[in-house]
Amino acid sequence: MLNETNVKLGKVRSSIRELFEYGKKRKAEIGEENVYDFSLGNPSVPAPPEVKAALSDLIENSDAVALHGYTSAQGDFKVRDKIAGYINKRFATSLDADCIYMTCGAAASLTITLNALVNEGDEVITFAPYFPEYKVFSEHAGAKLVAVQCEDETFQIDFAKLKAALSAKTKAVIMNSPNNPSGVVYGAECVKKLCALLKEHSKKTGEPVYLISDEPYRELVFDDGIKAPYIMNCYDRSIVCYSYSKSLSLPGERIGYIAVNNAMEEFSDVYAGICGAGRALGFVCAPNLFQQLVARVYDKTADISVYKNNRDTLLKALGEYGYTVVKPDGAFYLFVKSLEKDSKAFAERAKKYELLLVAGDDFGCGGYVRVSYCVSPEMLKRSLPAFKALAESYR
Ligand SMILES: Cc1ncc(COP(=O)(O)O)c(C=O)c1O
Repeated sequence: MLNETNVKLGKVRSSIRELFEYGKKRKAEIGEENVYDFSLGNPSVPAPPEVKAALSDLIENSDAVALHGYTSAQGDFKVRDKIAGYINKRFATSLDADCIYMTCGAAASLTITLNALVNEGDEVITFAPYFPEYKVFSEHAGAKLVAVQCEDETFQIDFAKLKAALSAKTKAVIMNSPNNPSGVVYGAECVKKLCALLKEHSKKTGEPVYLISDEPYRELVFDDGIKAPYIMNCYDRSIVCYSYSKSLSLPGERIGYIAVNNAMEEFSDVYAGICGAGRALGFVCAPNLFQQLVARVYDKTADISVYKNNRDTLLKALGEYGYTVVKPDGAFYLFVKSLEKDSKAFAERAKKYELLLVAGDDFGCGGYVRVSYCVSPEMLKRSLPAFKALAESYR
């Protein structure tokens, strides 16, 4: 008998992937330019030029055996040291290399972290709408994912609902800001309130609650004055799951890290748990070439002005056509109110106009669809009449 849970996970694709596959088929049938594929969060802008320069230099001028060789399981010391130094400079923390664990992107950061923290029967809270893989990652680690619905319209944290969801079984809370799929950024007040509530809960139950910040979109914030606060500055039991997939437009290279806050009392056990979970899952020694690369370009970001322009074009056009949308401050997603109650039916109808939109149900929030606007501006402009026709079909 095989492991039925994994067989099922392998057979049933996520609906985002399902839609992406449908898009590929449809493009072959009617031509690439006639399908408006907003399904995946695959960056459409190239990596910044410093990436190519650093890669070429690494390949030309490094010792090839060392460059392609194993590093320590948790990542090369010098790389981790550089990253810790950069975080300290940027966010006034006191991390060192041994707070950092190099990973194959945020997905690996999250699975390792969850496996390090949870025991069978624990609960992990997150805020809906949420990245669907949180459920897979949490359940696989043995925990139950508890989704707390965000406030209607704003998609900010609903603290009354969070308070009601916290229990003696709560081991961790996953937050994701800027958020996939809403694009919302949690501001300083919101994060402060969240940290205070978790501290109060821990004090009451005597049990630690860890705050995991999933941050693939940290650098993708579009407007001046909007910033996602760094959780280590206000919560000791915090762990940051970072990825360079979106900030450097390197999603296929699989590189990121986990940063564990050394201000927490049980830091050395938590970091050991991260190393142990990485070992047990086989997530040791993240790709060395890309470890060395990020040690050189950790402060660079791809040209996100393309996403900002796409956001503004879409916001204006969809508003004119009668759609309701919360203005996203970051990431590259728009969460649009479905024009009928059943967002799956709405996403199906959108397909008739060759628009590939993901139903919000998959993010734990029916009644909406996600538009992933990390696409070429030309495709985005070509798609606008289809959005208009879709809206008119409901009048
Ligand atoms: C919120 C969120 N977390 C994690 C991930 C996984 O990112 P990575 O490619 O770094 O594994 C994604 C990818 O889209 C995401 O949107």
